[in-house]
Amino acid sequence: MAKTSEVEHFECAECSHRTGKWMGFCAQCRVRGSLQQVFSASGSTGAVRLGAVAKIDTGRRLTGIGELDRTLGGGLVSGAAIMVGGEPGVGKSTLLLQVAGAIVGQGERALMVSAEESPAQIALRASRLKGSYEAVDVVATNDVDEIIALAEHLQPALVVVDSIQTIATRKVEGFTGGVSQVRECGARLVAFAKRSGVPVVMIGHVTKEGSLAGPRLLEHIVDVVLYLEGEVHSGLRFLRGLKNRYGSTPALGFFEMGDDGLRELPDPASVLLARGNPSVPGKLVFPGIEGRRPVVVEVQALVASTGSAQPRRSVKGIDAARLHQILAVLERHTGIEVGVKDVYVAIVGGVRVREPAADLAVALAVASSFLEIPIPATAAWGEVGLTGEIRAVAGDDLRRAEIERLGMDSVIYPGRGIEQLTDAVMAAGLSGAGVARQASRARS
Ligand code: TYD
Ligand code: MG
Repeated sequence: MAKTSEVEHFECAECSHRTGKWMGFCAQCRVRGSLQQVFSASGSTGAVRLGAVAKIDTGRRLTGIGELDRTLGGGLVSGAAIMVGGEPGVGKSTLLLQVAGAIVGQGERALMVSAEESPAQIALRASRLKGSYEAVDVVATNDVDEIIALAEHLQPALVVVDSIQTIATRKVEGFTGGVSQVRECGARLVAFAKRSGVPVVMIGHVTKEGSLAGPRLLEHIVDVVLYLEGEVHSGLRFLRGLKNRYGSTPALGFFEMGDDGLRELPDPASVLLARGNPSVPGKLVFPGIEGRRPVVVEVQALVASTGSAQPRRSVKGIDAARLHQILAVLERHTGIEVGVKDVYVAIVGGVRVREPAADLAVALAVASSFLEIPIPATAAWGEVGLTGEIRAVAGDDLRRAEIERLGMDSVIYPGRGIEQLTDAVMAAGLSGAGVARQASRARS
């Protein structure tokens, strides 16, 4: 053939990002020197009319584990590259073994690759779990090329690689678990998923510090990123969807780790709402929303005297900067002098709340503890602004409905007379003398 080929575009060897212009680094994954020329014999632009493109068959398969299917946005998509991250011991291997069991239960093959455990160890874990695991294909290897060759041969309905930090390829230098090996192995597994249509799950360990050479490296090249979270001491586990090319909203799945593996918790409120004495000061219910799902949690606060010039602020489950702001607004606009006190705030059950809508529940829980006045069976939501106003947030109806479903009827949220933090403090029955004075000042 004559040399008619022309450069059609450039493609990144790391993440397959395409661009028409050569640059020294990839605009998507920022890796240097990764762009490679792609030639086309015809020299055409390769453009097609959308109407002429056949709709991609996403071939979704429900695993039957509802909390996972929901987090995946409706089951496993064929050819999906999925990363499941989480701290060691949180239950990643258990969850994916259960998924493999569910797949073979549908009469399909599932390949479980472990570079960390022997087949005997996996069999021992399987013996604890509900369901039948005899038909799961298991292999212990750390060679990614061997894994792909095996998967190509077996053509299973799911491949699980446990873990991405413990496999390697001989074709690239660098130690197992290092940046170049994790990148290269991840890219090969993604390419295999795309080529074969087999969904591939890569398990990744995340340390508390968020280790760099970990799953974070792969977040941009996979289709779905899920994190399994929870305190190792409590049984509660959350499967959080951080990225999903096939789902519209971020999602959250709930599980409880028991003696026979992870059990689904379709109604997490039953576990999340602490069953303690309802009338102790310093607690309040916050109906959060994750994706489109209501997630009702309990906010607890403790305000304590301190001899220190630098009072302690301790948070669990909310952002520390957010708490500092709420405390400043509370002190300035309601006269509740928390500035010189130690303040502890925690979300029960280890859930992390990211919505500013939680501000009001936090503020009221702190005020309740400070004044030593309980706010029994009350839910609150709203964003607290710097000038002491409470701003409306999305999802009032969903939040109210969920609170009603749980049998609570006392709610405090922006609107109908609740405009300032002082209004909310009064509505919660926390009307001390100082609060009343501040409230009248705020109104005038
Ligand atoms: P594992 O799935 O090995 O965690 P990871 O792969 O994320 O490191 O599970 C670790 C913990 O879960 C371990 O401490 C034992 C516990 N576990 C149970 O409590 N019940 C069970 O049925 C199983 C299989 C494990
Ligand atoms: Mg494991």
